Amino acid sequence: MIEVFFIRNNNEKIKVEVPEGHTLMEAAKLADIPEIPADCGGCCACATCHVYVGNAWTEKLKLDTDTPEIDLLEYEKGFKDGISRLSCQIYLTKELHGLTVHLRPEELL
Ligand code: FES
Repeated sequence: MIEVFFIRNNNEKIKVEVPEGHTLMEAAKLADIPEIPADCGGCCACATCHVYVGNAWTEKLKLDTDTPEIDLLEYEKGFKDGISRLSCQIYLTKELHGLTVHLRPEELL
């Protein structure tokens, strides 16, 4: 199982365990995290699964500028270069065990 952590703006930390190969968005849905509605179901079409990658993970989770993900994210309110990612595009592997991401503040949802 891969363990991931979602951090709310009030610093509440939500731990979720999912089998390897799931996406980070799927982990959020399993935990019923309302800040990640994931309206398109993971098709990289809605950006409602936007998260901010924790400092320790930015190297491993650099945004690939040749993918459709960047086109969606760039126009998102709250986009932060270097840490913004769509959680539906992050596939959880053993290397990402312990991954921590921050959820967007309420005003950006
Ligand atoms: Fe829609 Fe990720 S769930 S873009």
